[in-house]
Amino acid sequence: MTVHFIGAGPGAADLITLRGRDLIAACPVCLYAGSLIPKAMLDWCPPGARIVDTAPLDLDAIIAEIQTAHASGQDVARLHSGDLSIWSATAEQMRRLDALGIPYSVTPGVPAFAAAAAVLKRELTLPGVAQSLVLTRTSGRASSMPEKEKLATFAASGATLAIHLSIHVIAQVVAELTPFYGADCPVAIVFRASWPDERVLRGTLATIATQVQESGVERTALILVGPALGSEDFGESALYSAGYDRRFRPGGGV
Ligand SMILES: C[S@@+](CC[C@H](N)C(=O)[O-])C[C@H]1O[C@@H](n2cnc3c(N)ncnc32)[C@H](O)[C@@H]1O
Repeated sequence: MTVHFIGAGPGAADLITLRGRDLIAACPVCLYAGSLIPKAMLDWCPPGARIVDTAPLDLDAIIAEIQTAHASGQDVARLHSGDLSIWSATAEQMRRLDALGIPYSVTPGVPAFAAAAAVLKRELTLPGVAQSLVLTRTSGRASSMPEKEKLATFAASGATLAIHLSIHVIAQVVAELTPFYGADCPVAIVFRASWPDERVLRGTLATIATQVQESGVERTALILVGPALGSEDFGESALYSAGYDRRFRPGGGV
């Protein structure tokens, strides 16, 4: 018996991996993390599967579900939105399973930031503009931020920021970032990327808080900030330049 932790992707059912879909189809038990998992994925569960929304459960109750499946030798598909490596609350579940000696596997998924960049049709790292992407959040009711992980600290680098779980404090985000990026810095907000009700707001640090207020967007949105969001003034990658000599194109430009 194995618990398969599966990154279910940002929302669209066809943005899960083939491995994730096949595991769902093979597991007689499916535990899924509430409204961010598209219901279409649950149709892949085998007939008669036990399908449980874990949104109303606490950690003990989730582990109890897994222990029950373990006792009867039933594999479990455990679905979380996006990828599992960021803000998925899987670490605490895996720690419990380690203690209980219950085996598990991990299947990655498409994270929300990648889905948002695809919606925008933007590369978030541009030569000469930004070569780093910071995945971060602001502190919330359930999780405080470590003292040194201030937005201002990341902003000082000028990197592209992908700010999660923070749309409700957009005015505070704008106030913290403006001294570093300037009021004209481009901002894009992607609400429910890849869902049927996906929406995009494009603006600047000067305009975006008002745009959010007027749009009524309240949750499940990613805030992307940085010059890479708007710049057309970037260099071309040396990798594909005619003069670049590389292993599979030796003597390029000669
Ligand atoms: C608990 S985190 C989960 C992140 C997820 N594990 C990932 O890989 O993207 C939830 C936050 O991710 C962002 N998010 C998740 N799905 C999204 C989507 N489809 N569109 C935009 N933002 C999304 C929002 O900032 C939301 O508040």
